[in-house]
Amino acid sequence: MQEIISHIQKAVLNIANELKFPDTGYQSTHNATGDTQLKLDVKSDMIITEILSKCKNIKALVSEEKPEALELNTEAKYIVAYDPLDGSSLLDVNFAVGSIFGIYEEKMSAKNLKMAIYSIYSARLELIICTDIPKLYRLNHKNEFEYIKDLKLSQKGKINATGGTQKNWSKTHASFIKSLFDEGYRLRYSGAMVSDIHQILCKGGGLFSYPATTDAPNGKLRAFFEVFPFAYICEKAGGKTSNGINKSLLELEFSKPHSTTPCFFGSSYEIDKLLSFKAEQ
Ligand code: AHG
Ligand code: MN
Ligand code: MN
Repeated sequence: MQEIISHIQKAVLNIANELKFPDTGYQSTHNATGDTQLKLDVKSDMIITEILSKCKNIKALVSEEKPEALELNTEAKYIVAYDPLDGSSLLDVNFAVGSIFGIYEEKMSAKNLKMAIYSIYSARLELIICTDIPKLYRLNHKNEFEYIKDLKLSQKGKINATGGTQKNWSKTHASFIKSLFDEGYRLRYSGAMVSDIHQILCKGGGLFSYPATTDAPNGKLRAFFEVFPFAYICEKAGGKTSNGINKSLLELEFSKPHSTTPCFFGSSYEIDKLLSFKAEQ
């Protein structure tokens, strides 16, 4: 695992440098989920591919920006599924973006997830590494990642971050979200899952959700490199997750690398409330 961590550290450092003087233009290509690719989505993917390909412990790479898995060392144990640049549509407004990594043993399945990592490219470069407990590291003056603290979710939060076009929400989702605002929750939503969940983890609680919508009945966020890594991190931080039905996102099984799912991540209070709210409908 340590070798994989070192390679990821090197890759995110390279991406952070690339983001300092970027070309924020679009490519003429689309990825497997139909998003128009930015030059920086493709560049970040290239950086990760080039660096992680040198790691002997990695069996295959699965990227948001590649239609198929890239097979590396057949004898190796780990598959790394990643979103090279999350929130890239916010690059033009200079908001914080990140990279997300899920490290699976032998087969891509939530129950085989052994580690989840994300980076956040903002005023500082931060890296969250989670095997047992999510640990926050910050790049210091010596260009090394320095341990800062463990991230823990309290039982209840104050933040309500929810995505998708509101006119395409179900009535149930709209009234659940309203019920949290009626309780005193505040809206905090940037449009980059990395930043929005990072805020909830750093402030100690709240809800991040991306529901099913009429235009995307299976949600927008991708299971293997967005949803499962954050579900793993939030649950290891003491929180809960759900798709609105199951008691954990980590119970879900998908066969296609780019499958998507509705998703809810939060403190236990908000997820328990969601499940009882749905049960009453
Ligand atoms: P990506 O930039 O990797 O395509 O991911 C964007 C995702 C996620 O970060 C965010 O939560 C969501 O898309 C925002 O979507 P909406 O603008 O539809 O809310
Ligand atoms: Mn993303
Ligand atoms: Mn992306």
